[in-house]
Parts: sequence; C-alpha cells; structure tokens
Amino acid sequence: MKSIFVTGSSGLIGSEVCDYFARKLGYTVHGLDNNQRAVFFGPQGDNRANQQRLIRDLPNFHHHELDIRDRRGVLELVKELKPQAVVHTAAQPSHDRAAAIPFDDFDTNAVGTLNLLEAVRQACPEAPFVHMSTNKVYGDGPNFIALKELPTRWDFDDPVFAEGIAETFPIDQTKHSLFGASKVAADVMVQEYGRYFGMPTCCLRGGCLTGPNHSGVELHGFLSYLVKSNLEKREYKIFGYKGKQVRDNIHSVDVARFIAEFVAAPRIGEVYNIGGGRENSCSVIEAIQLIETISDQPHRVSYVEQNRIGDHICYISNLKKCRAHFPEWKVSISLQDTIGQIVKASKSR
Ligand SMILES: NC(=O)c1ccc[n+]([C@@H]2O[C@H](COP(=O)([O-])OP(=O)(O)OC[C@H]3O[C@@H](n4cnc5c(N)ncnc54)[C@H](O)[C@@H]3O)[C@@H](O)[C@H]2O)c1
Repeated sequence: MKSIFVTGSSGLIGSEVCDYFARKLGYTVHGLDNNQRAVFFGPQGDNRANQQRLIRDLPNFHHHELDIRDRRGVLELVKELKPQAVVHTAAQPSHDRAAAIPFDDFDTNAVGTLNLLEAVRQACPEAPFVHMSTNKVYGDGPNFIALKELPTRWDFDDPVFAEGIAETFPIDQTKHSLFGASKVAADVMVQEYGRYFGMPTCCLRGGCLTGPNHSGVELHGFLSYLVKSNLEKREYKIFGYKGKQVRDNIHSVDVARFIAEFVAAPRIGEVYNIGGGRENSCSVIEAIQLIETISDQPHRVSYVEQNRIGDHICYISNLKKCRAHFPEWKVSISLQDTIGQIVKASKSR
C-alpha cells in the first residue's frame, strides 16, 4: 500500500488531502500536526476536531504529534516512514499575525519547510513533494496593475490580466508582510530542492483556499470567518477598498484533487498559481450578499477606512498553467456551493 506524509494534517488543506488520499486513492496516510493553529489564533483556531475526525473515519490514518520546527524529530520520522509522497501544509498562515510573532512565523514557515525538504532529500528524494505556498509571495505587486471600479468590485483594467495573475508575475521589490517574506523563503527553497537536487517538488501559490473544515478566525480564513460572524450575528469589519476587494476562492477538495494529479505525474521544481479563478471570485461585499441569501440572515457590518497592510485590491489566479499541465483537473465546486457547504457545516457545529 502506498503511503503519503502530510504536514498540517489537522488544518483545512491538510485534513482534506488526508481524506482524499485515504478514501479515493487508498493510501496509508501519516499526518503531522501539533494544533499550533490554536496557539497562533486562540480557541477559535483549534483544529483538534479535524484530527479526531480523521482518526475516527480513516482506518489507515496515523497522527504524529510533532512540531515542524523540531529538525531532528522531523528527520527521524521521515526516515522511519519513507513515504511515497509528501504534502507540506503546516504553516503560520496569517499575513497580519506574522508581525506580532516574527520568529515563530519564520521558524515555522521558512525553517520548518527547510527541515522537511532536507529530511525528504535524505530519506526519500524520489517522493513528489507538494508545498502550499501563497499568492502573498507576489507581495502587493498586484495592487499596481491598472484597475477599474465596478459597482460592487474592483477589476483589472489591463488585458494582460484578463484571465488573472500568472506564475511569471514578479515576486521581488514589493511589500510582502513578514508572512509573505517567510513564505517566499520557503517557496524559493522548495524550487531550489527541485532545480538543484532534481527532486520532484512544486509550490502551489494559493488564492483563497476554503471549505467547511476551516477553523476560520478574523485574521485567517476569509469565507469561513465571514459565515461564522453572519450565523453568530457578530459584526464583521471590512478594512478599506470600499469592501470591493476581490479574492478568488477554491474549495479544499479541488486543491486536494490538483495535488493528486501532481503526485501521479510529478515535475521538477514547478510553481502553480491555484485559486478559484474568475468564476469563483467575489468581492467582500458580494460575498456578504451571497452569504445573506444562503443563510437567510442579515449581516452586521462595519467599515474601517484603513485597509489591511499590503492587502490585495484585486487578486484572481490565472489557472492556465494548472490546466495545461494537468488537463483532467478543473475547479469543480462553485462559489455558491462552497458557501452553502460552509453555512451547513457551521450550523451543525
Ligand atoms: N487558507 C488560505 O486561504 C490559504 C491561502 C493561500 C495559501 N495558504 C497556505 O496553505 C497552507 C495551509 O493553509 P490552511 O488554510 O490549511 O491552514 P490551517 O491553519 O488550517 O492549517 C495549518 C495546520 O498546520 C499546523 N501547524 C502550524 N504550525 C505548525 C508547526 N510548527 N508544527 C506542526 N504543525 C503546525 C496547524 O496546527 C494547522 O492545523 C499554508 O501553508 C497556507 O499558508 C492558505
């Protein structure tokens, strides 16, 4: 039986990947997580329920309580497991949180990734290695693309970006946030282990990744937190850009499906932008309207003039390269269905 090693296995993407590879592909799954999300964000960020769900539902799932910063522990575990594939999703995932915890952020995102890469190089260098990167590696560069203001959203006003932002977009000399910078370090290192050592690595530069298993908090998990605040009748603060800032949202199942395609036909040192694309894009105010329609509950909203530092005004992933390399793959779950699932899951909690 093939085995896969997934870091951040209790998180949104990690838990989906565990589920997908165990159920659909019959893999033995080894997950690493220490519930650090609850340390980063407090009890609302607690991911233990996902961990317990995986242990309960997947007979071939094995949980490893380990910190990705524990270099020796990670090396020993990877040497013992020698998995056939590795998916790295463990991270400090918040733009805004990073400024308050710069060492935890860098040690987790950059050094943790290096710990894992080196362990894999020593133990199983032929294993496809998928790293969850982020569109924040482009810093605030996308904010300098010509934009037009529409009634409920900003949009690109440059034909070059009609289908969104491609992997060729520059990552240098822009404001990244400390999070974006630690993720750049990891992203470049993952590419380097591909190019320099010939390992089958790839970086997935995510737009807004979402789904019913996200423990959304104000500082991370846009749609999940938005739904939660609607259902709990909590005020939601919009930060700047008139609430017309655009994100492209992709369901975690579609991310897991892409990862499975890469694992089946890996390449060396690749980079992909992955998000919901134009079809699954929405502005904050459009998302609020959609959620109100689905939950049948008005949203309490306030507006703060100051935008979040470096927040993208409009970001849409160009999915051309993903589709060209993996023609079987496409975004299969609509934004409406995704929000519907998040509303249903949040209500049942
Ligand atoms: N969710 C998004 O919108 C989004 C967008 C772009 C990129 N990404 C990237 O995708 C990846 C996964 O994101 P997510 O939304 O699933 O995040 P998540 O917070 O839901 O999951 C990350 C998991 O990693 C674990 N973790 C964190 N630090 C750890 C450590 N030091 N040791 C062991 N485990 C640790 C956490 O406990 C958590 O369960 C991250 O790399 C993130 O930067 C996410």
